[in-house]
Amino acid sequence: MDKLIITGGIPLQGEIRISGAKNAALPILAATLLADGPVKVGNIPHLQDITTTMELLGRMGVELVIDECMDIEVDCSTIRELFAPYELVKSMRASILVLGPMLARFGQAVVSLPGGCAIGSRPVNLHIEGLVKMGAEIDVESGYIHAKARKLKAARLVMDLVTVTGTENLMMAATLAEGTTLIENAAREPEVVDLANCLNAMGAKISGAGSDTIAVEGVDRLNGTHYDVLPDRIESGTYLVAAAITGGHIRIKDTRPRMLETVIDKLREAGAEVVVGDEWIDLDMRGRRPCATNIRTSPYPAFPTDMQAQFTTLNVVAEGAATISETVFENRFMHVHELQRLGADIQLEGNTAFVRGVERLTAAPVMATDLRASASLVLAGLVAEGDTVVDRIYHIDRGYESIEEKLAKLGARIRRVPV
Ligand code: EPZ
Repeated sequence: MDKLIITGGIPLQGEIRISGAKNAALPILAATLLADGPVKVGNIPHLQDITTTMELLGRMGVELVIDECMDIEVDCSTIRELFAPYELVKSMRASILVLGPMLARFGQAVVSLPGGCAIGSRPVNLHIEGLVKMGAEIDVESGYIHAKARKLKAARLVMDLVTVTGTENLMMAATLAEGTTLIENAAREPEVVDLANCLNAMGAKISGAGSDTIAVEGVDRLNGTHYDVLPDRIESGTYLVAAAITGGHIRIKDTRPRMLETVIDKLREAGAEVVVGDEWIDLDMRGRRPCATNIRTSPYPAFPTDMQAQFTTLNVVAEGAATISETVFENRFMHVHELQRLGADIQLEGNTAFVRGVERLTAAPVMATDLRASASLVLAGLVAEGDTVVDRIYHIDRGYESIEEKLAKLGARIRRVPV
């Protein structure tokens, strides 16, 4: 297991490029199972979760070709197994996204239940309930979802909770169902819209993606296409917070500011000067310490839960006190105990963290527990005095492409050491 060693105290300066969005690439790669012809997916980030997805598709007999631009061409005409094993699904919960496409295209699927993870129990009951409403026969036994459907039928699906991958799974399943499916209380995330745009490029008839009601008119078949994944808004926000907490001035390119409005608003509230273009964001902190900023996470377009840990770190070193409420997941404060090791003043009460900003953090060994928590520890290391050692950074490699290269390009002193 590698570790990252970060020497704090350097204001970040410079410009980096934002990679493709992990949480758009994963459902889009799953959606390739729906197509009769090869689908070429571009702007794919080089991440462990992408590798896991390619391994999962490969094991099913799907042909994957990676070209010189790192685009991935997927041809599922050679598929031979409709099975997603526990050993892969447990390492990446998003594997559940093959369930809807497999069922819609091939009429059957055996997919391991993902199980929980560090941030919560993360059930998939809403995925299953939606597919049953569309006519699937589903048994869950010995930790596996056994699903069958001669032909899925359209249904009106009113989601109990806003679920991103639940919306995506059901939207994919509905593309080949008989009739027009309505998904109400749908997730509105940009990654859901990106998936819908890719499916429509394959010949699907989806409208309303990005709103809370999505209509999917079933078609007989979907064809191949070439689709580039949208930029990663969470990677974008993470680097902007890195600049804000180190008092620096950076520009991030190949991003989409419109996807980050609530995050940019909060950064401005924290005292950052933010200027945006069509595909770039410039943040200048002018050497100032951030001001404390209250955060409450909610589904898009409200403040994203995937930016909560990063803003906890911002508040830890901010001027003043702030409250951070996590309303999406039940256990997404694992980073708090590690930040306290660096000198953070945080009190946890249920799903709320009360943070009092401190002038300085002191480096210490800390341990990553989940993807975004590990990012918040790297951010803390950028300001802590001394060398912070972040262990178990396989978590961070799941969601941040070349993080040490990008931070080093911005002037950070950071290095990866194999253990
Ligand atoms: C997606 O996870 C993202 N992952 C997560 O990003 C993100 O944090 C989350 O959405 C919320 O925005 C991908 O897109 C691959 P949910 P997902 O279903 O779809 C409950 C990251 O850091 N729920 O929207 O699994 C669930 O327990 C990752 O990149 C049910 O109860 O999240 C949670 O409390 C972490 N039953 C809430 O809904 C269900 O059937 C929202 O979860 C489904 C969800």
